[in-house]
Amino acid sequence: MNDLVKTAVMPKLTTIWLGHHYDYVETITSTNDVLKKRAAEKSPDELPHGTVLVTDYQSKGRGRLGRRWEALPGTSLMLSLLLRPDWTAEQSLWLTMMAGLAAAEAIELLTNVQVSLKWPNDVGSELDGVWHKLGGLLVEGSVGQNGRLQSVVVGMGLNVNMTAEQLPEGMTPVTSLLAAGNQIVDRQALLLAFLARMERWYETAVAGQSPVSAWEKRLITLGRAVQVSQGEDVLVGTAVGIDEWGQLRVQTHDNSIHTITAGDVTLRI
Ligand code: BTN
Repeated sequence: MNDLVKTAVMPKLTTIWLGHHYDYVETITSTNDVLKKRAAEKSPDELPHGTVLVTDYQSKGRGRLGRRWEALPGTSLMLSLLLRPDWTAEQSLWLTMMAGLAAAEAIELLTNVQVSLKWPNDVGSELDGVWHKLGGLLVEGSVGQNGRLQSVVVGMGLNVNMTAEQLPEGMTPVTSLLAAGNQIVDRQALLLAFLARMERWYETAVAGQSPVSAWEKRLITLGRAVQVSQGEDVLVGTAVGIDEWGQLRVQTHDNSIHTITAGDVTLRI
């Protein structure tokens, strides 16, 4: 039996609310797309805050910036969470931070892999001095007419038990927990640990404490020479900090500071 199915996961949940509405679909187009569609069609009573959708295979998995997200069955952890925070739209970056922190903590609890994060949504690890991507987050929110978030889908894909041959090819060096830590990782334990940490970070944020400083400590991007691509525009400089919402501050050679809200960041050294 696949140990990510509802009957295997639900009895082991340690959360108070996250994942108490849980669905596992073996093959799906994209957990983000399906959960967004369900959120648009169903009432908050039918699809409550904290709903979790997990899959083992996506035929149309999506990454940031329109990229594809691909993984063979059995090799990764792919899920989406539905959250309904009463926050302003700019605060949605906090959810990316919280999910990155939760993923990092869950991985470090269960493996010997040290995790660092790359702005804005990448989870990874430094191997022999080179940062490798282990997974990523795709946070997509819908904003009401009052400018506040109505619902947010937090998607996460982690390369768990991919062998070196199964790793997807990309511009960024990639790895898996198996390749980086030399051990098979229990996906169910990883899922349960992630949900527990995510709920804790969420409750901390609702209580008014920002995740920014914890996130900043894990960000590999700060202090590094970076190249930021925003469509046709490319900005080269040094990542000098982040603001309270998590936007990246990049200093260019003329000493001016640019605030980056979205875009693709490449570490230059
Ligand atoms: C990235 O690194 O660009 C983000 C990758 C996010 C992938 C996950 S897998 C589960 C969820 N469903 C999707 O279609 N994408 C996210």
